[in-house]
Amino acid sequence: MNCRILATMDFCLRCFLAFLLMGGVLASRNGGDASFDQNYDITWGYDHVKSLDEGRQIQLSLDHSSGAGFGSKLSFGSGFIDMRIKLPGKDSAGVVTAFYLTSHSNNHDELDFEFLGNREGKPITLQTNVFANGQGNREQRMYLWFDPAADFHSYKILWNQYQIVFYVDDTPIRVFKNHTNIGVSYPSQPMQIEASLWNGDSWATDGGQTKTNWSHAPFQAHFQGFDINGCSDHQEPNVEPCYSTSYWWNTQKYWTLDSAHQRAYENVRKKYLTYDYCSDRPRYPTPPPECPQ
Ligand SMILES: *[C@@H]1O[C@H](CO)[C@@H](O)[C@H](O)[C@H]1NC(C)=O
Ligand SMILES: *[C@@H]1O[C@H](CO)[C@@H](O)[C@H](O)[C@H]1NC(C)=O
Repeated sequence: MNCRILATMDFCLRCFLAFLLMGGVLASRNGGDASFDQNYDITWGYDHVKSLDEGRQIQLSLDHSSGAGFGSKLSFGSGFIDMRIKLPGKDSAGVVTAFYLTSHSNNHDELDFEFLGNREGKPITLQTNVFANGQGNREQRMYLWFDPAADFHSYKILWNQYQIVFYVDDTPIRVFKNHTNIGVSYPSQPMQIEASLWNGDSWATDGGQTKTNWSHAPFQAHFQGFDINGCSDHQEPNVEPCYSTSYWWNTQKYWTLDSAHQRAYENVRKKYLTYDYCSDRPRYPTPPPECPQ
């Protein structure tokens, strides 16, 4: 071969390598690629956890002997936390699948998604709760507009200094505003991301009257999406550095819902909300101060 051909081949090889490298950089910048082990650890029920798809999917199982759970390696002081979940199908009455943020402190902060299973053909309930400085009792419950056991959906929690928003896919379903100016505590402690599958049949379905039918065990929940959009740049217990607007979820766009999201939020609550502590008069003769007047 003459020199010109060799030089061209060399050039092409370099191009090809550069192309591959760029592809790699783009893929990791687009995210969605972290394996479970990079960001999470199993916390209990080790033999009831299965890693699938090279760690891109995790299966938790529940039977009479145990459920299982996992948690993030790091704690976070703000973020837009996202998990893709497919719930146990068929008869899942009594079975609770949980995805939440929690601090591990005495007066703890916690933001919960809890999916309450049901008999086959009856709807699964999504319960959310907010704990701040140890105080919870802020349950809201709703049905979903799809079957959450049929496929994966995204469940997300936005947490910045201004608001906490729970999302189902891209629809906001709950907003908890920073109302510290009227004396309501607001989550301010570093929280870990956790998920678990367990037997809640003492309370979860029809107030505990509908029990888990163990002949359907093992119940299985599947999780995907182990990248974390969260700020871990803090020295516990102070999360101040996580309020920086260098994190996109702290920028003004995320301080309130925009009008399209506000409409979607109102619409979904009108159609699917089944319980709101804010309007439970027997329980709260005077609505708690954070509730809309
Ligand atoms: C809540 O909002 C106030 C301003 O009204 C702010 O100073 C404070 O840092 C916020 N609290 C948290 C925990 O983000
Ligand atoms: C539990 O499931 C089995 C199998 O489908 C069924 O035969 C049985 O009647 C169920 N038990 C209850 C209490 O629903």
